[in-house]
Amino acid sequence: MVNKATKPTDALIGHDAWNIQLDKNGNLKHFLTTEGLGSDILTNILDTAESFANINEQSVKKVPLLRGKTIVNLFFEASTRTRTTFELAAKRLSADVLNINISTSATSKGETLLDTLQNIQAMHCDMFVVRHSDSGAAHYIANNVAPNISVINAGDGSHAHPTQAMLDMFTIRRNKGADFGKLRVAIVGDILHSRVARSQIHALNTLNTGDVRVIAPKTLLPVDIESMGVNVFHDLQAGIKDADVVIMLRLQKERMKGAMLPSEQEYYQLYGLTEERLLAAKNDAIVMHPGPINRGVEIDSNVADGSRSVILNQVSYGIAVRMAVMTMTLGREKSGDEDTQKNETAGESK
Ligand code: MLT
Repeated sequence: MVNKATKPTDALIGHDAWNIQLDKNGNLKHFLTTEGLGSDILTNILDTAESFANINEQSVKKVPLLRGKTIVNLFFEASTRTRTTFELAAKRLSADVLNINISTSATSKGETLLDTLQNIQAMHCDMFVVRHSDSGAAHYIANNVAPNISVINAGDGSHAHPTQAMLDMFTIRRNKGADFGKLRVAIVGDILHSRVARSQIHALNTLNTGDVRVIAPKTLLPVDIESMGVNVFHDLQAGIKDADVVIMLRLQKERMKGAMLPSEQEYYQLYGLTEERLLAAKNDAIVMHPGPINRGVEIDSNVADGSRSVILNQVSYGIAVRMAVMTMTLGREKSGDEDTQKNETAGESK
């Protein structure tokens, strides 16, 4: 748990928060949210990932781009896909990787998050990949680490999951081409608790997607969702009509307070994606899901395993996109300030 005195607050993810993502030269220093980043940066991530996707398909998958760098996976919340693909991405770039298991670390013995961070950064690492159940945790860490360290948000509460959103954009671009303006993208399910949906909506709008739709019962939508620039539907078939891309989301029960749904069966009756319902989308529509999938709750097995599903491609592309973000943030030309402060920090911790 985050110590009370250091608990991230919503103020940390206010509208100025994205400013800390860029260095003085406008390069990506931290990757905390897709919100507020320009289409040039997002497109650069996709283009860089393209070259890594090719490397990942070769028999020798390793390149020396981050040799000598140390990347620390700091996961305060469970994860399989995200943590392992971050680890593989770092290893394929030849970085050294440290996985810190927070449930057995000193943080669980009462050490504050800040103390834990200071101890790890005294080991001279270059990047923290952070997952935390509190919204704002990654911003908090980025605001408090030594200036030479980059922070990548691997999911914070229901706020943001920017690398997931970018691997989703990559999957869309690979399947539907680079002109997002022609596309109708439908996101279905528990939007209210989904950090993935938030990050996807910001990225889709920045990439000028023609029509971004969300489809959910009223209880699973944030009240101000229209202000994010989406069209809202409560009926699944009306919402996915003529869609090019259908993104299904899991019911995130661990974040629900009280009963928000009558039952999973009833949810499936109304919002579960079956082959029959998918007929409403375009003939060549692709079906995506960030995982973990719940078969028979938000998606039928025939759809999840069917020819339109690109769910496993998303996982593979996740490695390439994370390699792209790691090289962009760590491969920057460092500003003089960062170098000076890095030397001072190194001197202090000797
Ligand atoms: C997440 O970490 O948010 C996942 O990728 C999506 C989910 O948990 O449903």
